[in-house]
Amino acid sequence: MKQSVSFTLNHQLITVDVDGDESLLTVIREYLDQTGTKYGCGLGDCGACTVIVDNELVRSCMLSIENVAEKEILTIEGLFSNGTLHPLQKAFVANGALQCGFCTPGMIMNAYGLLLRNPDPSREEIIAGMEENLCRCGSYNRIVDAIQTAALEMNQKIKS
Ligand code: FES
Ligand code: FES
Repeated sequence: MKQSVSFTLNHQLITVDVDGDESLLTVIREYLDQTGTKYGCGLGDCGACTVIVDNELVRSCMLSIENVAEKEILTIEGLFSNGTLHPLQKAFVANGALQCGFCTPGMIMNAYGLLLRNPDPSREEIIAGMEENLCRCGSYNRIVDAIQTAALEMNQKIKS
């Protein structure tokens, strides 16, 4: 049954009329045309659909839209602000941390959540924090390099 659900998406208040059991991923992509978040497995296994909900990492294919009412959602589109790429986005480009790029939005959002919890992770902590996100192209080493680069930049900004 259709219901009206309101939430904040990338700092903007949104209301959608949808079936309450539609996934957050479907609503983001199909109803709101925010296609940066990717559909990979649809089973919670690959991480391509990772977004942030109230500062927590979420696999958006596994969450019903009715469960995000009144919550704050951040997707890859929301990291780009004031015409500037987020340090993670810049670092993925600078380190060549992608090939086809399909996993990249989920990787970046997972890394964003990782750095929220641990702003100065070791290489081992980055690997552990990213291991549930899958990359078919095998860009893993460069993804870890990129996250280290971004963490450095973000921590320097905080200190300056
Ligand atoms: S599409 Fe959601 S985890 Fe794979
Ligand atoms: S860059 Fe292709 S799946 Fe990761």
